[in-house]
Amino acid sequence: MKISQRASHIQPSPTIGMAARAKAMIGEGLDVISFAVGEPDFPTPEHICAAACAALEAGHTKYTAASGIPELKAAIVGRLQTEFGLDYDADQVCISNGGKHALMNIWKTMLDPGDEVIVFAPYWVSYPVQIELCGGHPVIIMTNSSRGFQPDLDEVREAITSRTVAILINSPSNPTGGIFEREILEGLAAIAAEHDLTIISDEIYKHLIYQGREHLSIAMLDEETRQRTILADGVAKSYSMTGWRIGWLVGPQQFAAKAGSIQSQETSNPCSISQYAALAALTGPQDCVAQMREQFEQRRDFFVGALREIEGIECNMPPGAFYVFPDISAYLGRELAGRKIATSLELAEYLLEDSLISTVPGSAFGAEGFLRLSFACSVEDIKRGVERLKAALGA
Ligand SMILES: Cc1ncc(COP(=O)(O)O)c(C=O)c1O
Repeated sequence: MKISQRASHIQPSPTIGMAARAKAMIGEGLDVISFAVGEPDFPTPEHICAAACAALEAGHTKYTAASGIPELKAAIVGRLQTEFGLDYDADQVCISNGGKHALMNIWKTMLDPGDEVIVFAPYWVSYPVQIELCGGHPVIIMTNSSRGFQPDLDEVREAITSRTVAILINSPSNPTGGIFEREILEGLAAIAAEHDLTIISDEIYKHLIYQGREHLSIAMLDEETRQRTILADGVAKSYSMTGWRIGWLVGPQQFAAKAGSIQSQETSNPCSISQYAALAALTGPQDCVAQMREQFEQRRDFFVGALREIEGIECNMPPGAFYVFPDISAYLGRELAGRKIATSLELAEYLLEDSLISTVPGSAFGAEGFLRLSFACSVEDIKRGVERLKAALGA
């Protein structure tokens, strides 16, 4: 059967692929320690599940408005105002089937063939693929661990062409956990203003920031920057709601309306019951978020400490998200247990097959020489995993 050019170039998400492989091995009875997953290991808080049950009982089982229920839109803009002082109207929101879908809607609404989007590497695996699927061209700018993954503003200026339409920011970042400093955000905002570019700010990890540090959205810098920014967000990571599939974009009213029109043709509304659950997440008690954050912070501290004790591994302390992103380049080019390991992919495969540790190779994020390890698992698993890693590396 015919497969389109577009589809034939697509590879499945490597993060989902690695996690699925680990799950299948666990299903076969193998004691795999999974550091590959991109989702919190906590159950969705009870009051959120109860709201979903109540929505079912109340008969909220039909189509909703394509871009989401007004109550959830009001809750999203309400939280942006109370938490971050950002003023939006409800008609500036389009609610989608997860943050990933909200981002896809952004590219579809914005990009014409050949339009360029500045993307910082290490990047979340889906950004370049999504942009290309929508006819755009991701222009990758590398950041490095020695500078805490902060971009070089001169490199951003040099990368801009007449085809550049947007700069994509993901702070805190998947995979590095890095957070862009205020002066970097200010620099990016100035560049965007100078070249009349849109800023897309994926803030899905904004509640998972450690050491009491607060989230700074680029939209908070000044009114002009807010107006040229589109926020992408969702409930998956903050409320441990990955399976519920609720995310959203917030931006200029006309843009949100167009995204809603696309969605109305493609998927109609996101799940009605999940929208009521997300409403409870945003408007209900928030101590569950603080509790999860506290646990993540303890795991992070332990994980980074343990990894830094392995000779040859260098690891930044991630200020946000739930991933560590160690530099393992010292182990590339070596022979481990009789296997020649040349790339981070080969290392990840060796670790999975030989030592039952699942990780994601840095190459999936455009950063060869690194591994991404998620700390969405118990401290006990982190301890056991690091022991296995040490043994596998012969360290
Ligand atoms: C950086 C980033 N953005 C967006 C998403 C999408 O989240 P979801 O579609 O589960 O809401 C993810 C999920 O892994 C992510 O890591």
